[in-house]
Parts: sequence; structure tokens; C-alpha cells
Amino acid sequence: MNVLVTGGAGYIGSHMVKYLIQKDCTVTVIDNLSTGNRNAVTISNFIQGDLADQGLLEETFSKARYDAVFHFAAFSQVGESVRNPLKYFRNNVSNTINLLNAMDEANVHHLVYSSSAAVYGNPEKDSISESDPLSPVNPYGLSKLVVEKMIRDWSSVNASRAVCFRYFNAAGADLDGELGESHDPETHLIPLILRVASGRMREISIFGDDYETPDGTCVRDYIHVWDLCEAHWLGLQRILKGGKNFIYNLGNGTGFSVREVIGCAEKVTGQKIEQVVSERRAGDPARLVANASLAIKELNWTPKYSMLY
Ligand code: UFG
Repeated sequence: MNVLVTGGAGYIGSHMVKYLIQKDCTVTVIDNLSTGNRNAVTISNFIQGDLADQGLLEETFSKARYDAVFHFAAFSQVGESVRNPLKYFRNNVSNTINLLNAMDEANVHHLVYSSSAAVYGNPEKDSISESDPLSPVNPYGLSKLVVEKMIRDWSSVNASRAVCFRYFNAAGADLDGELGESHDPETHLIPLILRVASGRMREISIFGDDYETPDGTCVRDYIHVWDLCEAHWLGLQRILKGGKNFIYNLGNGTGFSVREVIGCAEKVTGQKIEQVVSERRAGDPARLVANASLAIKELNWTPKYSMLY
């Protein structure tokens, strides 16, 4: 199978590229390296470019016949999206329109899309299902929701099929420890905690301890990146077999608070992690935990690395 991976130099995208190669796919990556890391892409089919560049997209699709596209390229920082919403709508929404156009012109009909639990906003339930209300509380989540709906409408008028995955909090590294999570700037909880453990940062700031959660800190559902990759592969198989447009939560169904994640890192590393409580971060929901039973049932997906360690 010949696949194109947008954002393949990013955290989840680079793991997916590795997974696809293990499945004997021919993979091409397109990434503008604005947040991605060239060293994380171990294949030579790498195009450094931006999805804003319609000409580049046309050229890319004219040079090869792709069976499917995995679309990871997007900005993904909740806090930044609150400060600079148009940056998010331009890259995450407008540039996806360019991609869908290019796919149409090249008659490429299978799309696997990275959405996010951020589409739910502040959910009222302890564990969130796909049919729960969609009410994002930050521009990042809204940009992901707009694209989900765009994909639904796009696939309803052509021969295309898509699967959209709403990730909860991706975590961990490939099993060889070759890739891992590294953003620049780094804003994610686990890599920052590990920087403190390894002496590269003095302390971790806990963004608010007055949420309505058991210990007052935000609760998230940390799902292993390799489990995410497996679900993507199974999702592609599903749309290759037929159907139209599927949406699945990807999480492990268990929530861990910020303090629990810090406690776990202390146990694993044997290091004391200095912490300080600071202001809440704008756009952060108190609790985001998945009900992923639909993906488990319909894709026959089993998350294998569901505990923090
Ligand atoms: N946090 C801290 N201190 C930090 C960094 C994070 O307390 O220095 C807290 C955050 O407030 C949040 C939790 O740790 O409560 C996790 O924060 P991350 O930044 O690691 O991840 P987010 O939950 O903000 O976002 C991630 C993805 C989004 C996705 C979301 C869905 O980055 O793309 O999960 O749950 F939308």
C-alpha cells in the first residue's frame, strides 16, 4: 500500500510512519517542520512543505498514486490557540481544505484524520462517548470539530471514505525507544515532568489545583502512542472495506490527575519532582476521559499499554 502522511515528522505522525513501514507500506511524509523533527523521519520519501502550498500538493499527488492519506499536520497547543486563534484556523482548517481538494483532483479516496478530545469541551459525563455534546472551549478544539464536519460533508458528495480519531492525551514512545515525544517549545505534561526528573528543569508548574476533581488538578486519559497507531491502521482497514465516515474516541478509559502523573514519574525515575502550583491555563477542561468502547468493538482494537507505567 502507498500512503501519504502529513505531519509525519510530528510526535504521533512519526510513530505512525514507523508503524506503517512495519506493515510494509510505502510511505511519503509531507511536513513543514514548523513543529516537527526531521530526525524523527527515518525514510527518504520526505517532502518539506506546507499544506498552504496548493501547487506543492498537486505536484505531490501527481508524482505517485496514493491509496490513502493520514492527516496529522496541525497545530495542537490548547493554550496557544486561545492566544492566537487565527493561526489555528488557518493551518488546521484552511490547509485541510487544500488537502481535500488535492485528494479529489488525484482521485484519492481514503483519509485517516487526527481529531481530538478537545471537540467535547467541558463534558458533563465522567467518561465521554462519541455521541456526547460537542462544545469545544478553545479554538484548537473548534478547529478540529470544523474539520470533522467538513470531512463528513466532503465525503457525502464524492466517493471518499474517512475515519476521524478523537485522541485523548497521547503519551509514551515506540517500543524501541527510537522516537518519543519532543516538541519545541515543549508544553506537554509528561515530557516536562521528565525534564525535571533529569535535571533539565527546576520544577513543574501545576496549572491549577482548584478544579472539581478529587485532588483539584486536571484529569486526563493518557493513551499510548503505539496503541494510537494500531487503531489508525485498523481504521484504515475498515474504510478500505467500505462504509463511509467513522468517528472514534481513542483513549484507555482511565483518568489520571496531574498530581498522579507526577507521583508516577517519581516512582519510575526514583527522583523527587519539584512542583509548584500556578494559575489555571486558559482553555483547560477539568476532566477528559474516554469511553472508547466503539473503537474497541468496531475496529477490534485492544489498547495494550493502558497504565501510566
Ligand atoms: N499541565 C500542567 N503543567 C504543565 C503542562 C500541563 O499542569 O506544565 C496540565 C494541563 O493543564 C493539563 C494536563 O497537564 O491539565 C495535560 O496537559 P498537556 O498540555 O500535556 O495536554 P492537554 O490535555 O492540554 O492536551 C492534549 C493534546 C491536545 C488534546 C488534548 C485532549 O495536546 O491536542 O490532550 O485531551 F486536545
